[in-house]
Amino acid sequence: MTSPPAPVLSLFLLFLLIAYPLCHAAAPLTEYCSYDKKASSAAKANIARVLATLQSNAPSNGFYTASYGTGSVDRAYGLAQCRQDVSVEDCRICLRDAPPQLSKRCKGQAEAWMWFDYCFVRYDTTPFTGKFDSGYGVYDYSEYNVTENVVEQRRFDRELRSLLGKVKTQAAARGNLGLGRDQTKFSSAVTIYALAQCTRDLPSQACSKCLSTEIGYFAQFCPQRKACRGLTSGCYLRYEIYPFFFPLSPGSPKASLAAEPLVSKVVSP
Ligand SMILES: *[C@@H]1O[C@H](CO)[C@@H](O)[C@H](O)[C@H]1NC(C)=O
Repeated sequence: MTSPPAPVLSLFLLFLLIAYPLCHAAAPLTEYCSYDKKASSAAKANIARVLATLQSNAPSNGFYTASYGTGSVDRAYGLAQCRQDVSVEDCRICLRDAPPQLSKRCKGQAEAWMWFDYCFVRYDTTPFTGKFDSGYGVYDYSEYNVTENVVEQRRFDRELRSLLGKVKTQAAARGNLGLGRDQTKFSSAVTIYALAQCTRDLPSQACSKCLSTEIGYFAQFCPQRKACRGLTSGCYLRYEIYPFFFPLSPGSPKASLAAEPLVSKVVSP
């Protein structure tokens, strides 16, 4: 038996080095850490327990809430969930990795959350479930316009507004577990795909309010852009001109990077 030549071997090792972190921990789309709100040492211990509980219990059904501790400042509350359209396996991987990443990147903070593409995780020392919070949000949008024709840009914005309204209504409807997704053909070459996902603890009205807030910022940041997404503590709203939510229709083009680079805007109260 002959061993493979050294360059082949080192290329293979390089590949492993690059591929390993990719299939083991996705990078968050965004994170929020409350740098001005530190956790007491008792709260830190409760937060650690909450995150460990989320990590062991959330992957099995894609949604879990937990709380630990006593007292009004030391008690910790947490929530973890997947986007409702992703597979059980993708959800499981995302929720296994998300809580440790959150605890590492927001160490010592009393409140924190992270959106990944497939899942969301959050904790706080004040109860938050069921309530819409209009605070911090991140908006990422493509630098590129869908078209440079101004009349077509306006038509795109109208079509987009109507599509976003539809996914918001779906997401807020009882029984949809916070998920809305739809698409609309803008031209022979361009189809717009949109997805909305509220956290499952939010009642219909709060989900709707959360998405309306994001739609408002979309109108400010994203007109005629090729892509845009909004991330807050209660909902995720995104559109692209390629299919990105599941189920992907057979033969649909692969997600492209055509909409990159993204510009990021932070909105805070
Ligand atoms: C996109 O369209 C807007 C509005 O028509 C225009 O002002 C802007 O310069 C365009 N941006 C690019 C990158 O072409």
